[in-house]
Amino acid sequence: MKLSANLAPRLLLTGGAGYIGSHTAVTLLEAGCEVTVIDNLSNSSAKSLEAVQKITGRKVSFHQVDLRDTALVEAVLRDEHIDAVVHLAGLKAVGESCEHPLRYYDVNVVGSLHLLQAMKAANVRKLVFSSSATVYGDPKFLPYTEAHPTHPTSPYGQTKRQIEVMLQDLSDSQAGWHFSVLRYFNPVGAHPSGQLGEDPRGIPNNLMPYLAQVAVGKRASLTIHGDDYDTADGTGVRDYLHVCDLADGHWAALQHLIDRASPEFSRCDYFNLGSGVGHSVKDMLHAFERACGKPLPVRVGPRRPGDLPAFWADANHARNELQWQPVRDLDNMCSSTWQWQQAHPNGFND
Ligand SMILES: NC(=O)c1ccc[n+]([C@@H]2O[C@H](COP(=O)([O-])OP(=O)(O)OC[C@H]3O[C@@H](n4cnc5c(N)ncnc54)[C@H](O)[C@@H]3O)[C@@H](O)[C@H]2O)c1
Repeated sequence: MKLSANLAPRLLLTGGAGYIGSHTAVTLLEAGCEVTVIDNLSNSSAKSLEAVQKITGRKVSFHQVDLRDTALVEAVLRDEHIDAVVHLAGLKAVGESCEHPLRYYDVNVVGSLHLLQAMKAANVRKLVFSSSATVYGDPKFLPYTEAHPTHPTSPYGQTKRQIEVMLQDLSDSQAGWHFSVLRYFNPVGAHPSGQLGEDPRGIPNNLMPYLAQVAVGKRASLTIHGDDYDTADGTGVRDYLHVCDLADGHWAALQHLIDRASPEFSRCDYFNLGSGVGHSVKDMLHAFERACGKPLPVRVGPRRPGDLPAFWADANHARNELQWQPVRDLDNMCSSTWQWQQAHPNGFND
């Protein structure tokens, strides 16, 4: 997608030191935006922002602030003269959310509530929100369209849906609020510079970072959680998209939102950000083996409770409305991850 840089808004990126946030910061800086980041660094390192500045040659204004600190967030919004917010801060592990639901409601839902209160006080009324395909739950039909019913099956998914409802209610209540809800599918990959990538703490929850750690020798083998699903090769199918494409999707959504914003009305738009194509665990394994040039040790374990067999996005709405679609393929997703993993086997600690 060609990005137009006819706008140069001042943006607040919450969670901007994290995996998706840091890649999004690169895209927004390269598009000419001024970027301020707030992040409490609970799941990230400020070194990611050093990499962002090195890649772009642009400055990021960083504030180590918790989302739930309304007064501090409001001060940042005012002091930095923020025009719009891209809200990515939050907790994201489905399994952990089942063990610690209150932690998830506190950080995700209460954190977003405080952010919106700070925005209201500072009169900042445009926001792009990181939601997730997990809001849909058990597929009634596939691919998921934005009109698919929402029945999240985990506390994590519930928190995302509740934030969406909060945004919808706020935009229904008063003119002037403009929201773009982005329902991400499965972001993977790393920046082509090799300086920025996913740096999970502890055992990775997601397939791609796990594969990368097996390939680099940090984990003994990949466990495939079930190979008896009703899919072409029996393994689970997901919609993977490159994190740099996802980052571009935020800029497309921001331009769409800013172009159409008016004090006379409100809007809350929903977009699936996915590739529209499903790939199985075995597809990903073979693509990663191609990228790293060696076979990887694998064992097959039982299905994980709560895992859906297959889902992928209907990505037409984003393509038609935002003129956005992913351009990076599976091999790019794997080779960029491998490049990052090899250069940084211990993430940003290297
Ligand atoms: N990675 C995925 O597969 C995926 C899929 C769908 C949606 N999302 C959503 O995208 C967003 C970003 O995900 P990510 O993969 O980059 O995760 P991440 O953990 O790398 O980034 C989240 C960032 O938020 C920060 N943060 C957490 N709680 C905070 C708080 N209370 N105050 C301030 N900062 C806080 C963390 O330190 C981290 O830097 C999350 O909201 C996540 O739910 C991610």
